[in-house]
Amino acid sequence: MMHWPAEAIWEALYPQLPDFTVEVLPQLDSTNSELMRRIRAGRLEPTLLVAEQQTAGRGRLGRGWQSQAGDSLTFSLTLPLAPRDWSGLSLAVGLSVADSLHPALQLKWPNDLWLQGRKLAGILIETAGMGEQRHVVVGIGINLAARPADGLSTAPAWLQELLPEVDAGQALLRIAAPLVQTLRAFERSGFAPFHAGFAQRDALRDTAVTLSNGTVGMARGVDVQGGLQVQTPAGLQLVTSAEVSVRPLAPPAE
Ligand code: BTN
Repeated sequence: MMHWPAEAIWEALYPQLPDFTVEVLPQLDSTNSELMRRIRAGRLEPTLLVAEQQTAGRGRLGRGWQSQAGDSLTFSLTLPLAPRDWSGLSLAVGLSVADSLHPALQLKWPNDLWLQGRKLAGILIETAGMGEQRHVVVGIGINLAARPADGLSTAPAWLQELLPEVDAGQALLRIAAPLVQTLRAFERSGFAPFHAGFAQRDALRDTAVTLSNGTVGMARGVDVQGGLQVQTPAGLQLVTSAEVSVRPLAPPAE
C-alpha cells in the first residue's frame, strides 16, 4: 500500500466531525458505489473513503472514470446534509477543491476542474435517503501523474504539472478539511456564498459553447443558484439540468 496521512486527515476533520472515519482500501469497484451501498444498508456514519485503485470508477452521465493506482486520487466523502436547495452543490465542491490545490485551476460547469482547457479532475455527487435524512456522497477523481489519453477526446491534465511534489495523500490532506467546511457552508447558505469565487475560475465564461441538446451560444457565467447562462440567438437561456453537457465550440487556445 502507498503511504497515506490518514491520521493527519482525521485530526484535521475531527473538530468538525467527531464521529468521522477515514478509510483507505487498496481496491474497490468505485468509492461512490461502495458508500451508496453502505448507506442503503443503514451504515450512515460520516466517512472519507479512498481507493488506491478503482475497477469500475463512475463519471457523470453514465460515463466511466479510468485510473491506475498511483496516477490518481480517487475518493468519496459521505455525511448527512440537509440544504434547502441542492442546486450549485457540484460548483461549490469544485471551487473548494480548486482553492485547496492551485490558483491556476479553472472550473468547467457543472463539475470538472480544468487546467488550460484540459480536464484535471471530475466530481460525481449522489444522494441517498429520504426527507430530512439525506446523505450526500461526493466523489472526486483527480489526475496526479501523466497517463495515456486513450479513449478521451482531449488530452487530460494532471496535478503534478503544477505541483510536482504532491502525491495522492498530500493532495487529499489539502482538500479534505476545506471540503467538509464547504459542505457545511453550503448546507447553511446554498450556492450564493460561492458565486463570486466560481466566477473567478469559470473556464467557460465568454466562450462559445455547444449544449448536448444542440443549442449553440456564448457562456455568460452562472446565476446565484449555479445555473449556466448561455446567450443564444433566441435569448439568454438558463441551463440547470445536470443531464445537459456543455463543451467549448472550438478547442480552447493554449
Ligand atoms: C466525471 O468526470 O464525470 C466525474 C468523475 C468522478 C470520479 C470519482 S473517482 C472517486 C469517485 N468514485 C467513482 O466511481 N467516481 C468518483
